[in-house]
Amino acid sequence: MHKYYWITTYGCQMNVHESEKIAGILRARGYEQAEREEDADIVVFNTCCIRENAENHAYGNIGALKKLKKSRPSMLIAVGGCMTQQAGAAEKLRKKFPFVDIVFGTHNLSVLGELLDKKAGSKKAVVDIWDKEGEADTEDISFRTSYPNAWVNIMYGCNNFCSYCIVPYVRGRERSRESGAIVREVNALLDEGYKEITLLGQNVNSYGNDRGECSFPQLLHKICERDGKYRLRFMTSNPKDFGEELVRAIAEHEQICNLVHLPVQAGSDRILRLMNRKYTAKEYLQKVELLRKYVPDCQLTSDIMVGFPTETEEDFQATLELVKEARFATAFTFVYSRRSGTVAADMEGQIPEEVQKERIMRLVELVNAQTRELSAAYRGKTVEILCEDFDQKRGLYLGRDEYGRMGYFRSDTDRIGEFVKLNISQTSGVSLEGELTQEKE
Ligand code: 5AD
Ligand code: SF4
Repeated sequence: MHKYYWITTYGCQMNVHESEKIAGILRARGYEQAEREEDADIVVFNTCCIRENAENHAYGNIGALKKLKKSRPSMLIAVGGCMTQQAGAAEKLRKKFPFVDIVFGTHNLSVLGELLDKKAGSKKAVVDIWDKEGEADTEDISFRTSYPNAWVNIMYGCNNFCSYCIVPYVRGRERSRESGAIVREVNALLDEGYKEITLLGQNVNSYGNDRGECSFPQLLHKICERDGKYRLRFMTSNPKDFGEELVRAIAEHEQICNLVHLPVQAGSDRILRLMNRKYTAKEYLQKVELLRKYVPDCQLTSDIMVGFPTETEEDFQATLELVKEARFATAFTFVYSRRSGTVAADMEGQIPEEVQKERIMRLVELVNAQTRELSAAYRGKTVEILCEDFDQKRGLYLGRDEYGRMGYFRSDTDRIGEFVKLNISQTSGVSLEGELTQEKE
């Protein structure tokens, strides 16, 4: 008898990768991926609580399963991820959705298999949330689904306590993995044929601070001892710890993509101080300059927030100015979301929704214009793409260039997992289209 699973993921890359670990645990217990949610024997919600809309989305989707659960009581419903890790969240979930069978947290993801066993012998829901970081090294259980890219956690948690952010409360303090284990894992993935490795951490620049064994630039040097054609990416870098040693490593190693995701959040020093970001707009721009000095063809992306408590039109204008000065290739833009338990949630001067909406529209317009302008500059150029998928609808293969820009092309043969060169003939806001060059690799 086959057993099937379905996982719904909310939030960031960190969660996408954690769902690969959840899939690995379920597969080790004989489950296979279902084609549709309604066919699954277990449905897992891997939730996110970083912004209210991600949380509402998850609540809506869990609620929508009530009917299915009634018609098929043997179907298990499990809820995990950082939403469950908030104070009081498990009780709220149980009250709202008494039909949920298993609730687990981010700190005990590795024991999901044991929770399944516990549930098998019991009618009662199994709720197990650890309030202390205690995860085992779960990397090797991942069932990876993003070939030719592989995500690799290098650390967990965050120590920064930006005043708006819930992450340090739900993911605990920084814990770095041992550098030898990371290097071995990266090498094993490259041996298996993966062509791109993305190192993950809430703030990769502080990798190793808790162990004192190896810094982040040193880790990059160790990984890059491996020869051959592959790409190395990392996210996220906190600007406060972004420095010359890292910039030199990016410049030195061909494998490290010349793309840095450096979330600035805001352009006003007053707001940055209230956010507890520990840098000024000027200091941020100096780091950008440093990066461009060593790596002239480097591109930058960012996270930017509008509507933080007390943000004035003048503060917002400073953000727009900084977006222009930093010449971001693209950016994730967010409306500030009040997260209970954070310092900013209790600040005076919360900004009305209409003002937030109007500001985010202006910000998105500016960011999109910069992205379009950069895209247009690609026309007539040759770019190298790592082919990652086939788009059935368009009948085209697709992949990304070093800077993460999506390129589409036609091919008679399967190119997934290959580096190909494209002559770019068309560009749109965020993507490129071109023809394969004739040259052989
Ligand atoms: N409201 C809006 N955006 C947030 N982020 C983190 N917390 C919040 C919040 N409360 C954004 C930041 C961060 C990204 C991952 O999510 O920009 O860099
Ligand atoms: Fe949140 Fe700041 Fe940590 Fe990023 S660095 S996860 S924004 S607290």
